[in-house]
Amino acid sequence: MTAVLVAHAGKTGGTREIAEVVSQELRALGHTVDTRDAADVADVSEYSAVVVGSALYYSRWRPSAVRLLQRNVAALRERQVWLFHSGPCGPGASLAHVSLPASVALLAASVDAERTTTFGGRLDPTLVRGILPRLMARGPRAGDFRDWPRIRTWARDVGHHVSADVSL
Ligand SMILES: Cc1cc2nc3c(=O)[nH]c(=O)nc-3n(C[C@H](O)[C@H](O)[C@H](O)COP(=O)(O)O)c2cc1C
Repeated sequence: MTAVLVAHAGKTGGTREIAEVVSQELRALGHTVDTRDAADVADVSEYSAVVVGSALYYSRWRPSAVRLLQRNVAALRERQVWLFHSGPCGPGASLAHVSLPASVALLAASVDAERTTTFGGRLDPTLVRGILPRLMARGPRAGDFRDWPRIRTWARDVGHHVSADVSL
């Protein structure tokens, strides 16, 4: 059995829900999983593998997810790390690929993370704050574009890789 951390960062709960589904799949494969807000994670040393997921806002990761990576570079380098971000909304969202913001790409390279995965996001006008974000959330991009079967498949793939690495 392996302890896996699934850390998430977002504003309106969409990324947390993805992290919870990822955690469910990892548990189903026999892993011990902690699902935590990235802002609450000071140290990753008790985990063998770490998944970090952030919502995208204005092409950036949430500061708490970036801080988690920055503060734990040395420890993460010695662990398996998977990253995902969630954001694209609207037609074609579930197939969209978004590159990592440059600063996060550097961190990902420093910790030798697996390739980052993009998941569609959720834009709900009743949850977002601010005039511009609300207007944006009322257009064609409004709705829930999280592709749960794709998210579950990705999580199982992560789970199998964790198992494979640990049994070496
Ligand atoms: C103000 C605002 C800016 C956003 N910027 C981006 C962006 O740059 N790229 C993207 O793919 N999604 C963007 N999104 C969509 C969010 O990433 C998406 O709604 C996500 O699912 C929110 O996750 P959360 O519920 O965890 O906060 C934006 C949404 C809002 C409201």
